[in-house]
Amino acid sequence: MLAPRFDQTRGSIVAPPAGLSDAALRYGVLPMPSLAWTPEVERETAHLYEKVKRVMPPVEWPFHAPYVKAINDLKRERNAVILAHNYQTPEIYHCVADVVGDSLQLARLAGSTDAEIIVQGGVHFMAETSKLLNPGKTVLIPDSKAGCSLAESITGADVRALRAKYPGVPVVAYVNTSAEVKAEVDICCTSSNAVRIVESLGVERVIFLPDRYLAQNVATQTKVKIIAWTGACEVHERFTASELQRYREEDPGIKIIAHPECPREVVEVADFAGSTAAMIDYVKKNQPRRVLLVTECSMADNVAAETPNVEFVRPCNLCPHMKRITLPKILDSLVYMREEVTIDPSLVTRARASVQRMIDMG
Ligand code: 13P
Ligand code: SF4
Repeated sequence: MLAPRFDQTRGSIVAPPAGLSDAALRYGVLPMPSLAWTPEVERETAHLYEKVKRVMPPVEWPFHAPYVKAINDLKRERNAVILAHNYQTPEIYHCVADVVGDSLQLARLAGSTDAEIIVQGGVHFMAETSKLLNPGKTVLIPDSKAGCSLAESITGADVRALRAKYPGVPVVAYVNTSAEVKAEVDICCTSSNAVRIVESLGVERVIFLPDRYLAQNVATQTKVKIIAWTGACEVHERFTASELQRYREEDPGIKIIAHPECPREVVEVADFAGSTAAMIDYVKKNQPRRVLLVTECSMADNVAAETPNVEFVRPCNLCPHMKRITLPKILDSLVYMREEVTIDPSLVTRARASVQRMIDMG
């Protein structure tokens, strides 16, 4: 924790203010910028409003724009980048993020950024992955309570018990796991490379955790026998096949695109299934007249902002964890250098090896 330090101006030892992070002591706290909606802010952010105007009424922009300007200014001052997952809200995704993508894209970019500070626009396991892949950087998450029902469904002890039950069977972990779990497994995967990673091991059986639905969906694409854990994404498990069929009955021309964290029967109704980046690519390349993205609903807003010819149907399931990340919290992150992501030193080497093996698969 923070130690008392000698303050040269006062000539005395001062206790650190409550809540000041180690990173704040290393980098210093900056003054909170003005958050007034002024003609200057309007002028300097006008090009960013252009990017979101299809999904954000003009009346909302004066609330976001002062934060957008302040965050973009502070990023330069701090030499920071914001890595934002495709589920972040449009004002984050389009207006302050330096890099956007699915879990695999964000992990790759986290490992290669030259910036001093990474601010993770996403959930805690993503920030841990960034720290594992680029340990020399300071990684901040604007709200450390941004968890994930999948990551919370399994512990390192659970993995050790699985290994004892299935001796010699390799363990593949979805990146939606804690560093503690990553330290116990052989290799990580994401929804965009799961089949390839499973097959790369050259074995007849693998333990695949923690998502039982992703496991079922992977199992249909490979001869490798999958031993699954029981976790589920609280957002994707809510979709049902009958709900999607109703949309299809109403409009047989609609394209239904699903994330493979959805139950198997939901994916079977879909025209295409893939990671969030693959879903976005599908829409941009095929430009369907009408599309239903069976996933977290901010993603539809983000793609809709860029695809004016596509109509989006939105059965809106929000991820409460992703939605903990907001512009005010990102600004606080950059001003106060919080919340810093650290990883138990006893886990780092093994957890990094599991993620790095995945990255090295290309
Ligand atoms: P991808 O972006 O890798 O498809 O993952 C989706 C997800 O649920 C991340 O939390
Ligand atoms: Fe986890 Fe699902 Fe939220 Fe992604 S959408 S962070 S998998 S709970």
